Amino acid sequence: MGQTLTEKILDDHLVEGELETGEEIGIEIDQVLTQDTTGTLVWLQFEALGLDEVQTELAAQYCDHQTYQFDFKNTDDHRFLRSAAGTFGAHFSRPGNGICHNVHKENFAAPGKTLLGSDSHTPTPGGLGELAIGSGGLDVAVAMGGGPYYIEMPEVVNVRLEGELPEWSTAKDVILEMLRRLSVKGGVGKIFEYTGPGADSLSVPERTTITNMGTELGATSSLFGTDEKTKDYLSRQGREDEYVELTPDDDAAYDDEIVIDLSDLEPLIACPSMPDNVVPVGEVAGETVEQVIVGSCTNGGYEDILPAAKMLEGREINKKTEMIVAPGSKQASEILAREGWTAEMMAAGVNFSEATCGACIGIGHVPASDSVSLRTFNRNFEGRSGIEDDNVYLCSPEVAAAAALKGEIVDPRDLADELGDLEDPGFEMPDQYDGSKADLIAPDEAVDDGLIKGPNIGDVPLKDPLDAHLEGEVHLKMDDNITTDHIIPATQDILMYRSNIPKLSEFTLSRVDDTFAERALEGDGGFLVAGENYGQGSSREHAALCPMYLGIEGVLAQSFARIHKANLFNFGLLPLTIDEETYGKIEQGDDIEIVDDVSEAVDSGQEEFTIRVNDDWEATGHLDASERERRILSAGGKLSLTRQQYKDE
Ligand code: F3S
Repeated sequence: MGQTLTEKILDDHLVEGELETGEEIGIEIDQVLTQDTTGTLVWLQFEALGLDEVQTELAAQYCDHQTYQFDFKNTDDHRFLRSAAGTFGAHFSRPGNGICHNVHKENFAAPGKTLLGSDSHTPTPGGLGELAIGSGGLDVAVAMGGGPYYIEMPEVVNVRLEGELPEWSTAKDVILEMLRRLSVKGGVGKIFEYTGPGADSLSVPERTTITNMGTELGATSSLFGTDEKTKDYLSRQGREDEYVELTPDDDAAYDDEIVIDLSDLEPLIACPSMPDNVVPVGEVAGETVEQVIVGSCTNGGYEDILPAAKMLEGREINKKTEMIVAPGSKQASEILAREGWTAEMMAAGVNFSEATCGACIGIGHVPASDSVSLRTFNRNFEGRSGIEDDNVYLCSPEVAAAAALKGEIVDPRDLADELGDLEDPGFEMPDQYDGSKADLIAPDEAVDDGLIKGPNIGDVPLKDPLDAHLEGEVHLKMDDNITTDHIIPATQDILMYRSNIPKLSEFTLSRVDDTFAERALEGDGGFLVAGENYGQGSSREHAALCPMYLGIEGVLAQSFARIHKANLFNFGLLPLTIDEETYGKIEQGDDIEIVDDVSEAVDSGQEEFTIRVNDDWEATGHLDASERERRILSAGGKLSLTRQQYKDE
């Protein structure tokens, strides 16, 4: 039986396990990337591992999420990141140089390599045949230290693209069609491999629009094979020598298959406030549009902005509408400026932003209340634009530019009929992507002498190996469905302390009980108790790290969200599942003692633990953990374990 593209790349990088769907595998990572909001902790964790130098082939640190330096904390973060990249041997991309996925695609992404990144849209370079996966920061730090990355072998789905895109339809419509069909949960535990004549017809930038937004399907990653189009893109980026031919075997066995005929696709749009709320543009035509933004890591390339520029050439945007172009990289900005397109767009009424995530996470260009904003981004969750009553639609640059001209949502084919002289701008790449590399600092150009830590950058706390005896107070009893946002709120005023764990910890669970952090820190150890689905939501590691810093030893819950449970192991907290009756009986303030010799029990694979409450009654807690998770827990967390392993080597 032949291999899929995914299996071929994984096979090349496999260090543990077998390529059986659902089995845990360990893979070697070639490249890592981090961005500014996750990178500070990644480097602090890397420092705590005690290594002198990055061990992967390549590491890159980007500054893209918070490039507007509101106060010294942002600037200190960026300076620390530059010093860490230089000290440990990573490339450093200065604030304003562009969004991590765009700059990585342009400069480093390479076919057949593995990439791990502490950002959910890391799979973007899948369009170049790189197997790229998003993960938590600690996994990135460990991979940078040369450790394997562990995942459950995903299902591999063949997305067979037939035909060719008709006029006015784009790669964005391909991924919107996937979201329309599969929903935002449709890709969980899956890797999508795009094949067929339709895939062959797409250029690399079009392919990366699709792989970028595979994240919205919940997919582990998305991949295209490589071909003349890949070679052509690499050559225009001056990296032709990095081309490797990669195709799935003809008799590759996929877990599932989806067929999309590109020639059937029409311009689509995701309505507020979910990326899978997709309809043909014509269905929502006529809605007044007050704001249009072209940009982001999905559609912020030269090839995305150029069609909008061509549509606006010699015209003016509607007086009701504001239009902003936020290029994904300075390379795109520079080439557009040199070719005169920036001036054309400015003359049409467009405002330009620096190359940053910015508006995508509500930093700048916040829409007016209860108004319609059309964006070429990948997410439109309620409130993400910076205002709760937003109405954000997601679409292609062509649909966005048409709305800017008309002042309302319009199918660009109808606008073309109405105006008579508006043509489909088509797709075009520059002969050479010859932007300057001035903002990309290579490891051998490092400018700092060691790490520079401003007052808001602390150390990462390390936990001792698991005690034989665990005992303490229930500091907080919570209901069902506590999210990571409840545990550590993601608001800007709190997240600015993400590199200062003692300060950030003061906000732990403050949305549930604002006395918790102080009580937990004063207490000697202790537990959290929760109902069903504890820790649902994002993969935020701070939601486990901060309780650990406050001295929490374990969490007793009726059930755990998968990623948060992994984070509890990673930071050395014992996650025990309890039944409904036990949950009902335990009260906040109760004294809990785990009767067993905990470290011995964890090491020996024991699944049931006896919990004694108030020295009065007993219940059972279940530990569902793999051998690897038990080793992590026993060592006091993944950082402590990895640090010890490196010392032993
Ligand atoms: Fe940035 Fe938005 Fe992409 S935050 S990385 S532009 S999803």
